[in-house]
Amino acid sequence: MEANIVILPGDGIGPEVTTEASRVLNAIAAQYGHTFHFSQHLLGGCSIDQHGTALTEATLNACKQADAVLLGAVGGPKWDNPNAKVRPEQGLLRLRKGLGVFANLRPVKVHPDLRSASPLKEEKLKGVDLLVVRELTGGLYFGTPKERGIRDGVEYGIDTLEYKDFEIKRVVDLAFRLAQKRNKKVASVDKANVLESSRLWRQITTKVGENYPDVTLEHVLVDTAAMRLISSPANFDVMVTENMFGDILTDEASVLSGSMGMLPSASLGESGPGLYEPIHGSAPDIAGKGIANPLGAILSVALMLRYSFQLENEAAAIEKAVDQTISSGYRTTDLGGDLGTRVITDQVISVLS
Ligand code: IPM
Ligand code: MG
Repeated sequence: MEANIVILPGDGIGPEVTTEASRVLNAIAAQYGHTFHFSQHLLGGCSIDQHGTALTEATLNACKQADAVLLGAVGGPKWDNPNAKVRPEQGLLRLRKGLGVFANLRPVKVHPDLRSASPLKEEKLKGVDLLVVRELTGGLYFGTPKERGIRDGVEYGIDTLEYKDFEIKRVVDLAFRLAQKRNKKVASVDKANVLESSRLWRQITTKVGENYPDVTLEHVLVDTAAMRLISSPANFDVMVTENMFGDILTDEASVLSGSMGMLPSASLGESGPGLYEPIHGSAPDIAGKGIANPLGAILSVALMLRYSFQLENEAAAIEKAVDQTISSGYRTTDLGGDLGTRVITDQVISVLS
């Protein structure tokens, strides 16, 4: 097959990890006879420096026309002033919204050899294999009004949590379809004892669940879900939740895997290109040192091959090569090792071929 892939390296360690991930894509292309065309564009802080905005129309259009988009990370101390008019994260949010990628898939698996890298007791980590499906284009991140102001001499800040029925339905439906191919369990996470939007979420999820009699649905309050994620993580299969809860719970879940640097993500819409990014941030403290863990980005391109290009064999080959790389003891510093970014990728590629 032939595909056009837009790469948005972004800031911090973003360029380092996307370079490694594209090397793995090239290795796959050579081995399986595919052609991937890459083009790079600016997103985040680097785009603010060059264009005064975190995402230009030209970059957004290039992404819309691509077959898939690979993103590194955005942000850093240079652009962190709370009073700044433009912020790197705005580019990411506009990109997600612009591409209509309403479902963010964040799989969390724990390699047996990495159990000791997690602060949790090892026995709790046995059998952990969960998939968080996070709603990505609604909720508090996008609701209006969203503003600061002064009313009657009192300064206020306001964000709005609103969900429309179709926004809930489409993401929950996807979660059920994914659960059908896994362990057939969906945990829908909400705060229905307090939030109106959560009561709507629960009502619609229950309704959607009726179409999937083979999948067991449970509703879990978000505070309980946060607790269960560390007390009994192996009991979860697919977890589906709104944007903000999903943001928080996936950082928590990443601790299970030993390092945030391990985890990939795929953001998908109804049609159009998917957006693939490791869930780690720009890690400015280690940027440019060649020591970032490339595996989150490499596993993200495996998800790209699976979900955007339906290349299941190639995706599984990358995942297996990453597993073997870990099993052979290759570790970056986040996992307690001392190997550099490039060495890890070289090993993944050599196992592949
Ligand atoms: C994530 C990140 C982003 C989010 C930030 C960088 C805007 O934390 O992808 O989880 O909150 O969605
Ligand atoms: Mg986050």
